[in-house]
Amino acid sequence: MKLTTTPAWQALAAHADTLRQQHLRDLFAADSERFARLSLHHDGLLLDYSKQRVTAETMALLRQLADTADFTGWRQKLCDGAAINHTEGRSARHMDLRAGEQAPPEVRAVLARLQTFCNSVHSGEWRGYSGERITDVVNIGIGGSDLGPRMAVLALAAHQQPDIDVHFIANVDGADIAPLLARLNPRTTLFIVASKTFTTLETLTNARTARAWLLATAGSDSAIARHFVGISTNRILTSAFGIPDANVFEFWDWVGGRFSMWSAIGLSVALAVGWRNFSELLAGARAMDMHFMTAPAAGNMPLTLALLSLWNTNFLDAATEAMLPYSQSLHLFPAYLQQLEMESNGKQIDRDGQPLGIASSPVIWGESGTNGQHSFYQLFHQGGRTIPCDFVALREADFPLPGHHISLLANCLAQSAALAFGQTADEVRAAGVGEALVPYKVFPGNQPSTTLLLPKLDPHTLGRLLALFEHKVFCLGVLWNLNAFDQWGVELGKQLASQLTPLLEGQGDATVFDSSTRGLIAALRKA
Ligand code: F6P
Repeated sequence: MKLTTTPAWQALAAHADTLRQQHLRDLFAADSERFARLSLHHDGLLLDYSKQRVTAETMALLRQLADTADFTGWRQKLCDGAAINHTEGRSARHMDLRAGEQAPPEVRAVLARLQTFCNSVHSGEWRGYSGERITDVVNIGIGGSDLGPRMAVLALAAHQQPDIDVHFIANVDGADIAPLLARLNPRTTLFIVASKTFTTLETLTNARTARAWLLATAGSDSAIARHFVGISTNRILTSAFGIPDANVFEFWDWVGGRFSMWSAIGLSVALAVGWRNFSELLAGARAMDMHFMTAPAAGNMPLTLALLSLWNTNFLDAATEAMLPYSQSLHLFPAYLQQLEMESNGKQIDRDGQPLGIASSPVIWGESGTNGQHSFYQLFHQGGRTIPCDFVALREADFPLPGHHISLLANCLAQSAALAFGQTADEVRAAGVGEALVPYKVFPGNQPSTTLLLPKLDPHTLGRLLALFEHKVFCLGVLWNLNAFDQWGVELGKQLASQLTPLLEGQGDATVFDSSTRGLIAALRKA
């Protein structure tokens, strides 16, 4: 049965018609216990969704929708390693990567090798070709082989190991790698070539450039073994690239790229923060897995986030969702979430091969607070669009300095309150504003938001945060009846780019392309 024709959906649609008329001011006025009723606690995490445009009834109806979609059944399939990525015939076993003692033997074996390697780099036992210690690590990867580790290394900056710098290169634009190589020393630099498939154009192009740069100084191919490690599911291609098998850390096709930072793809994180901290990151994710698998629907944080997202998208017609971490260290979290959410659920064909017919993943975007306030928040407050916001804040600062953290938190709370309640014309007048300016100073409010308070930004908490959003994404896939684990929509562009490369070099027949593309090719050729 189509989702939108189910009784649960119809009940939500009818309920939405009445709720859309209500302002958050009215909802708060009607229920003094609203915060207590619409917030969740889990082991020091606090998820306040009382500023979402929902009531307890909305949540109950949304949970009925989850029942209709067989949320519990799908969650069990995920846990059991069923082939839920049906278009690729694969399971999605990222939870196995952080299952500790319960992890499959092959996972534990790779983790043990990673630990040995990581410790040998930190202790200085692992040396470059000239006998010097490694001081710089460059992760070359893109998408899931970049965004998670890059974000985590920044998020855990307060836990950074001394004497080692970890860098990230993703873009095929030479402007990414060239300035970095210009300031690194080949004798003390280690490259991690991270690619699930080891066929990704950007990564291989950068990796070749890095290899040539190393060999220009080292002179002999034997230096590669001291300066290149590979992380991939494809040993044939890592070896074809020249990386010895002993330097390859494998993972498996049942790990989706955007869910892979718990695998060997996390090596850059381990090198940045040390093995103990990396293990804590995995343990934190595991703790969230346990919550997700066992908590009843009403208290289940990932499911709650997913239900709110669906409500805002499909019933309040919000096209985007803003992630606003009030933490500079989480500055890259929105970029990481963009891939996680949009590559997973930015789809229209459901598991039955039928068009979904309603909006799926909202456009995820965002910026750290307070920076965004001085940039685009104007539109949140007075732009006339519904833009659900997810605020994230830390109770404890990761870099405590007098006066900073309190201001940060005050701003975070100020924004969610201003967005929810706004400011009426009467309030503006009461503040003594002249009549001509009154309309400009009115804030309509009623902008939905969630605030997630984290105790602090340590590896364990970061692990929980990331797993929370991974599971949110899985839940949304279940609700929309989408396969959240494939990404066919990235293929066409790759295919066309490979056809266009020779044309830009002046070879081949461009007539297969449209007049715009031909015109652009001609202009570029002339340049
Ligand atoms: O093109 C999209 C994508 O396949 C992502 O799903 C993936 O994370 C990224 O490219 C990188 O892929 P790989 O790790 O195989 O290089």
